[in-house]
Amino acid sequence: MAELRLTAEEQAMLEGAEGPGVQRAMEIVATLARIYGAADLVPVSHVQISGVSYKNLGDAGVQFLREWAAQGAVVRVPTTLNPAGMEMDRWQEMGISPAFAEPQIKAVEAFVQMGVTPTMSCTPYLFPDYVPRRGDHLAWAESSAVIFANSILAARTNREGGPSALAAAIVGRTPRFGYHLDEERRADVVVEVRCPVRDVADFGALSYVVGKQVGTSCLWFADLADWLPPLPEDLTVGGPAGDRLKTLGAGLAAYGAVALFHVAGYTPEARDLGEALIKPHARRLVIESLDPAYKIMDADRDLRQVDLVTIGCPHASLSEIQQIAEMVQGRRLATRLWVTTARITRERAREAGWVQAIEAAGGEVVADTCAVVAPVRAIGIASMATNAGKMACYAPAHSKVKMRYGSLEQCIEAALTGLWNGEAP
Ligand code: F3S
Repeated sequence: MAELRLTAEEQAMLEGAEGPGVQRAMEIVATLARIYGAADLVPVSHVQISGVSYKNLGDAGVQFLREWAAQGAVVRVPTTLNPAGMEMDRWQEMGISPAFAEPQIKAVEAFVQMGVTPTMSCTPYLFPDYVPRRGDHLAWAESSAVIFANSILAARTNREGGPSALAAAIVGRTPRFGYHLDEERRADVVVEVRCPVRDVADFGALSYVVGKQVGTSCLWFADLADWLPPLPEDLTVGGPAGDRLKTLGAGLAAYGAVALFHVAGYTPEARDLGEALIKPHARRLVIESLDPAYKIMDADRDLRQVDLVTIGCPHASLSEIQQIAEMVQGRRLATRLWVTTARITRERAREAGWVQAIEAAGGEVVADTCAVVAPVRAIGIASMATNAGKMACYAPAHSKVKMRYGSLEQCIEAALTGLWNGEAP
């Protein structure tokens, strides 16, 4: 193991000067630093914690959090939470049982006791108060947010685990290795895309065909800017570019384990550093078609009717909520529709009247959770449709549901008519 340099303050934390909760956190951070060969720790400006749903935590996880909170551990940098397994103040309406809700509430209370802000969203980069700046060091544990922060915002974070992110928040530092270092931000794979990539679902399909072939590599997309509108000044609204990029990143992180991609002439570091960001012996990957992705992601082609249409993975942006509201305005849904989003985004959308339009059609704009981390089978959902690549990856495996995958228009049409592609059952 490499020699790890700790400051006097860090060494004191390790020796218990700030109590057992901080000591436990510093033990985790220092151990990881040694395992990964970090020379020292780097201060972080923001932490995002994953593994919040009781579905993932289980009783042992809830107990672990409560014990840590009882030891007096408190976060020392702004820290936010991933989605929980239910909407926190509307779980009865969602059909969630008390046996699930009660430990879920205890888990969130433990985080709050430690000073964590209970945002319950996987899109901290859409929150006006938390958007990282270029070069900021973070400890984020949500893989879709990690890749967005690294790639689109040029902030710096590794893919933290739930406990390591919480430990980083408590000590305000994370090991300096991986994506915190310039050298690790250079591309190992150059991707050339030779087929049209037109909408969010296509970007999800692209994430499948690339993600399955690249593992943890850092990517350089040579020509993807041709399929992207300009990046807006304010990325917290989403917009056509932001929505495509959030879907692409989430899928690359789910089908592969990618934490950083560059788009030539487009993303911040690629614009400034150009092809100097490509490693000398980078592999070349040519994508000729998205058809193989659609064949796998649109997994259950015999399925004509779905129990739930779910949009918002990662959590829906304002622009996505606006599009859905305009598509269902004045109409009546035949199938259950969840637009999953952050509480703050829902409030902004409500001010614009978009939430009311979706609710008037019979849909729900659901905060705090999503169709992967909620116990959907227990509330009667056995099949879904989505336009989100990560949802198509995780929901069949994590929630044991059947899946249809397609464009936003196909999904909303299915919600309105009750039939996928208008096909009779
Ligand atoms: Fe977020 Fe749930 Fe997708 S946590 S990224 S909406 S699987």
